[in-house]
Amino acid sequence: MIRAFRWDDYDSVAAVWVAAGADVLPRPELEQKLTRDPELFLVAVAESGITGAILGTWDGRRGWIFRLAVDPAHRRQGIATDLVHELEQRFSALGCPRINLLVLPHNEAGLRFWQELGYLPAPDILCTKPLPQQSPVAHHSPDESHATGPQRRPQS
Ligand SMILES: CC(C)(COP(=O)(O)OP(=O)(O)OC[C@H]1O[C@@H](n2cnc3c(N)ncnc32)[C@H](O)[C@@H]1OP(=O)(O)O)[C@@H](O)C(=O)NCCC(=O)NCCS
Repeated sequence: MIRAFRWDDYDSVAAVWVAAGADVLPRPELEQKLTRDPELFLVAVAESGITGAILGTWDGRRGWIFRLAVDPAHRRQGIATDLVHELEQRFSALGCPRINLLVLPHNEAGLRFWQELGYLPAPDILCTKPLPQQSPVAHHSPDESHATGPQRRPQS
């Protein structure tokens, strides 16, 4: 079953992100995101619990997809495809004409997955700049971010 995220899912979703080598979105950042479009943060639920997650954001012009991850024990069962299709329907309902996402250069399997679903590489290069933090989102040190995996990088 695919449904919108609820706060009591957080630890399970964080565990899926960690198992998948994805950065865990800190709670304060997630609180901010959920004030805007909570219906675009989706989880896949099986009898065993949360098996996957996908974070969509809508800026009024484009849809963006972040942090798609499926627990390694549940891959190649169509869970990510179901998450993406449900999110696409929700974007369409908002009038979204195009969805963008980022794939790390070494993530060949991830790129194959996205291409299978019709997401084609564009030549753009991500540029990013951190801003000094003001309330309501407090500054997080790298330790607080729970970032994992071998490729620590600025978080987009
Ligand atoms: C990428 C990921 C989300 C795919 O999840 P999944 O639930 O296994 O994907 P699906 O079962 O829906 O796969 C659909 C199709 O995508 C392609 N695909 C998925 N994983 C693939 C892989 N590792 N290698 C090659 N093709 C793959 C296949 O065509 C697959 O269809 P098939 O199983 O009938 O061959 C999962 O492997 C994952 O969490 N990876 C780590 C995090 C990540 O890379 N996220 C994407 C960030 S951009």
